[in-house]
Amino acid sequence: MKTKKVLAGVVLILLFLPLMAAAATAPPLPKKYTTWQKSQRKVVTDKSSLFYGIHYMYADSKAMQGYRAGNRFVEGSTIVVEFFNIKENASVDGPKNMVVMMRKDKKKQETGGWLFAGYGADGKPSGLDPVTTCFGCHQKDASQRQFVISTIDDYKK
Ligand code: HEC
Repeated sequence: MKTKKVLAGVVLILLFLPLMAAAATAPPLPKKYTTWQKSQRKVVTDKSSLFYGIHYMYADSKAMQGYRAGNRFVEGSTIVVEFFNIKENASVDGPKNMVVMMRKDKKKQETGGWLFAGYGADGKPSGLDPVTTCFGCHQKDASQRQFVISTIDDYKK
């Protein structure tokens, strides 16, 4: 009886290990990010891009300081992007389809000192691999800007 219980415990832990690992790489989305500084509305019509659709970026106060300093970001700076489908009439946002986040985290050396994470429309981690899915583009386009592609101009009205 006792061994059975222990075994059941071990099996449970093994079952949850991958989930725990996924949770470690993708923290929950910050609850109030929609109250942060919001970017202009951006429309990407290139269907081959992961960013195809309509998107808005949200930057917390540390990230805004970083943008103002010419893309020099302090630890903890966080930027969230919300994506919406393009409907026939591109002037109206379609349904939300994805959310991504970058947070400055010096432990993430593999991805330039940033945590990269992807989420579904419901805000749950989508398990996208930050190294293979995310970092390539950011490294290519913004290696001189601490891997942040957008600039302060994207937040000007
Ligand atoms: C196809 C290339 C590409 C890939 C792949 C990509 N991004 Fe980006 N990302 C961009 C571009 C281009 C921008 C700038 C958007 C803008 O200026 O409106 C951007 C912007 C961002 C921003 C806002 C801060 C910034 O750098 O401007 C975040 C956060 C972000 N991406 C996270 C991610 C995450 C997380 C992934 C992986 C799930 C990812 N990106 C994969 C091209 C890419």
